[in-house]
Amino acid sequence: MSTEPQKPVRRITVPQIAARKGGEPIVSLTSYHAHTAAIVDRYADFILVGDSLGMVMHGMETTVGVPLDLMIMHGRAVVRGTRRALVVVDMPFGTYEESPNVAFRNAAKIMKETGCGAVKLEGGARMAETIRFLTERGVPVMAHIGLTPQSSHVMGGFKTQGRDADTWPAHIDDAQAVAEAGAFCVVVEGVVEPLAARITEAVDIPTIGIGASAACDGQILVLEDMLGLNPRPPKFVKVYGALAEEIERAVSSYAEDVRQRAFPTEDQVYR
Ligand code: KIV
Repeated sequence: MSTEPQKPVRRITVPQIAARKGGEPIVSLTSYHAHTAAIVDRYADFILVGDSLGMVMHGMETTVGVPLDLMIMHGRAVVRGTRRALVVVDMPFGTYEESPNVAFRNAAKIMKETGCGAVKLEGGARMAETIRFLTERGVPVMAHIGLTPQSSHVMGGFKTQGRDADTWPAHIDDAQAVAEAGAFCVVVEGVVEPLAARITEAVDIPTIGIGASAACDGQILVLEDMLGLNPRPPKFVKVYGALAEEIERAVSSYAEDVRQRAFPTEDQVYR
C-alpha cells in the first residue's frame, strides 16, 4: 500500500459551474446519503441534496411537507461523504418565500450546519428580489423554474410546462429574472424542448435540465430513478441500473442463508 499522502482535492466551485455556460455539459445527480454520494462524487460536477428526498427517502406524497432540519441532516451526510463535487442543498417549502430576511436566515443555517457550497430555491421572477438579497450577502443561489414541485398544489400536479407557446414568454422572463438577480445556474424542470432551447439561449448562466430535453447546458436526475429503484420513474428518465432487482436478489439470498443457519458463526469470525 502506498504511504504517499493523499493529495487534497479541491471542490468544484460556484464560479466554475457558472463558467460552463455553453461549454462541456454539466453532470449532476441528486444524493441524500453519504455512501451513494461518495460514488456520485467521482463523476458529478455538482450534487443536489434535493427536497425530493421527502418522497424518495421518506415516502411523502409531495415535497411540501419536508422540514428544514431534514434537509440539513441529509445535507451534512452528503458533504461528509464527498470531496470533489459542489454540494447544493434545497431550501424546502416555507423556508424562503415569506421575505428575503427569512430566506437569508434559513439559507445561512443550511450553509453553516451542512458545509454545502450553495442553496437552491424554486421560483422565477417572483423570487428575484430574494435571490439578489441572498447572493449580495454571500449565499450562492441555484434557481429552479418551469415545473416547480413545491407549487404542485397550485399547478394541479406535476405537469409538463410550455405545451402552449403562449406561456413561453413568462417562463423566459423567469429565467432572465433569476439570472439578472445573481443566480449562478438555473434548473429547468419539465418543459417542452423548444422552450428549454429558448430559455438556454436567453440567459448567460447554465441551464440544468430535468425532463427538459438535451437543449440545456447540463442535466440532473434523481439518483434512485436512474438506478432503477423507483417502481414508477417519470417517463423522461433513462434507467441505467436495476437496483431494485439486485436488492431483492441479495435480501432473499440472505434470508435463505439465515433460515438455513448459514450465517457466520462465532467460530468462523471471532476465533
Ligand atoms: O428535489 C429535487 O430532487 C430537485 C430536482 C428534481 C432538480 O429539485
